[in-house]
Amino acid sequence: MAIIAIVYLIAVNPLLCLITFIYTPLGMFFTFKINNKIGKIHADNVEIKADSLSIFEQFLSCIPIVKSFMIEKKALLNIQRTQQQLLKSNMKLAKFNSLLQVACGAINSFPRVLYLGFGALLVFNGEITLGLFVAMYDFLGYVIGPSTYLPFMIQKLNRCIASLNRVERLNELSLNSKKQIEEISGQPSVEAKNISFSYDGSKKILDNLSFTFKGNGLYIIKGDSGAGKTTLMDIIAGLYKPDSGKMLICNKDPALNDIGGLVSVIPQDVYIFRGSLAENIHFAKPDMPIEELVKIASSYPFLSFVEDLPEGFDTVVGDGNRAISGGQRQRIAFAQLLLKNSPIWIMDEPIAAIDDETRKLLISLIHSCAQDHLIIFCAHSNIDEKTASQIVCLGEKQNEYH
Ligand SMILES: Nc1ncnc2c1ncn2[C@@H]1O[C@H](COP(=O)(O)OP(=O)(O)OP(=O)(O)O)[C@@H](O)[C@H]1O
Ligand SMILES: [Mg+2]
Repeated sequence: MAIIAIVYLIAVNPLLCLITFIYTPLGMFFTFKINNKIGKIHADNVEIKADSLSIFEQFLSCIPIVKSFMIEKKALLNIQRTQQQLLKSNMKLAKFNSLLQVACGAINSFPRVLYLGFGALLVFNGEITLGLFVAMYDFLGYVIGPSTYLPFMIQKLNRCIASLNRVERLNELSLNSKKQIEEISGQPSVEAKNISFSYDGSKKILDNLSFTFKGNGLYIIKGDSGAGKTTLMDIIAGLYKPDSGKMLICNKDPALNDIGGLVSVIPQDVYIFRGSLAENIHFAKPDMPIEELVKIASSYPFLSFVEDLPEGFDTVVGDGNRAISGGQRQRIAFAQLLLKNSPIWIMDEPIAAIDDETRKLLISLIHSCAQDHLIIFCAHSNIDEKTASQIVCLGEKQNEYH
């Protein structure tokens, strides 16, 4: 209709049509610029929103810790800071949205004003009839309508693109993990080359540590409490970069490369997200339907405790909901590890909180999985060291190998 209307208007009186729409391209240019800015602000806005939500969630799930250490003020300040950032970003977004409304209003009203002014002059001079003048005014609406709404549609599109980009980044993570596994040629390996690490720059937790774990098998990292086992696990997982020396996972530096697809971790303190148990195991393999994962997980004997929960895998756990024990958390972490099935497993005291019977079950599972995975098992004791491919001691006996 817009195209037909504009063709008709040109055919009836080209000069009147030109003057009427003289401002429209300029107005469209302004709205394009404003939309560009809105797109950028919106991209930042979704990031800030995500940050502020996760900080809030973290605060809620750590309320007992926050209370026991009396750090409410600090925690609230942290939340307040992100909320202020969010407010600032929302205000900026609102400002540019209002500006867009004004710009669109101008696209809507300028042509009408110009038409009424110049058209009336033509009628006065007898160049067009009053009837044609009124009829053409009606036609204007067909052209003005779309040119007013187009910028709003572009604005909505920009917002969708910003949100989609975020979703795409999450998808990329799961694609990356497949690519990473395809890329490793030969056996998986974990290599530490003279690594030293200190948290505060003075006390060395790891001092010139070297070892090479090559190929599938069970590799044990031993050491007294405070010897640096968890620190080493965090360096292997790429959470910390050593002060000197090199850590290589399948010949890649974990601090510089994304190795999420190659490595799975059971941390010393297993974290369970607020949500159902099914959702908690789903993030280990997000590309598989949740029902299928639950079916597989139901067959794990070490997850038999889930059957006793009122709603099985649909039981919601986490803050304010049903609490599950430390041992049960570790078992969920085992299920995540098995479902993700990456080539390298890192386990930081994975069976410390588990009863004797389940412990035996999990140890035999670890031994059988060590045939086709590189498993780094970190513990004070409680695993048969004779079956280990290699043992590394930390602390006073560092660099003592077996
Ligand atoms: N985030 C941190 N900041 C500063 N120092 C830390 C931090 N985390 C650990 N440390 C210190 O580093 C040393 C090694 O800690 P780490 O947790 O690696 O030991 P660990 O061998 O895992 O002990 P455990 O067997 O008790 O789990 C300890 O002295 C600890 O106090
Ligand atoms: Mg530890």
